[in-house]
Amino acid sequence: MRLVLLGPPGVGKGTQGRRLALACEWALISTGGILREAIARGTPLGIQAARLMDDGRLVPDDVMIELVRERTLDADAADGFVLDGFPRTVPQADALDEMLQGRRLKLDGVVSLAVPQAELIRRLSGRRECPVCKRAYHMTDAPPRDGRHCDDHPATELVQRVDDAEETVRTRLAVYAEQTEPLIDYYARTGRLIEVPGVGAMDDVFAALKQVVGCRRRAG
Ligand code: AP5
Repeated sequence: MRLVLLGPPGVGKGTQGRRLALACEWALISTGGILREAIARGTPLGIQAARLMDDGRLVPDDVMIELVRERTLDADAADGFVLDGFPRTVPQADALDEMLQGRRLKLDGVVSLAVPQAELIRRLSGRRECPVCKRAYHMTDAPPRDGRHCDDHPATELVQRVDDAEETVRTRLAVYAEQTEPLIDYYARTGRLIEVPGVGAMDDVFAALKQVVGCRRRAG
């Protein structure tokens, strides 16, 4: 199955995408994660992306489309993938359809997650991430066992993402409303939109998500 997780910053795309990919044995393709890795390695892509991401702006479409074109060809994506953070603009959505059609494949569904803006801000301000495995925690809702270090990497202290600074979050939400939200109509018009409430406990959101996408490979 090929699935897109759509929704504003902080809605839970990464959290749920990670669980879904594991449960259903699909590849998780997080474009934000790929870019942050490129920044950490200091590659040309990372250098270009860092400036834009730190300001909460989008990386150019042509760069993102090429990145996703290549990543979706990796062996682990052959039986299915979950896209977290792509597409984010109409040209990216058009390119995704074209790319899949060219491989005689199709996008099976687009899950739109939604929560009120105040909750998005609360989630982003409390988010901390493991620099090694990139797992996201929340300091009150999903804290690490010892309150500071990653459960799976006990020597690694959690960090706050640079773009989770208050001012940058405001920009990211505005960019989402202007450039990405129109994709909800875009996919609704072609009958591919699946709406799932993002509010509630992470386990409940996951159960709802798993039910609508129809993954039954493992208990999850
Ligand atoms: P990206 O990394 O994709 O960021 P984003 O879309 O802004 O989304 P986030 O990762 O902030 O939030 P999320 O929805 O994954 O929430 P999470 O699960 O972590 O992109 C970053 C940047 O890269 C962009 O700004 C852009 O510059 C660039 N970029 C990436 N893709 C691009 C593209 N296609 N085109 C152009 N540029 C691109 O959850 C958030 C917090 O809430 C966590 O702490 C979590 O523990 C907590 N939480 C989750 N669910 C719940 C719940 N149910 N209840 C309580 N807390 C919860």
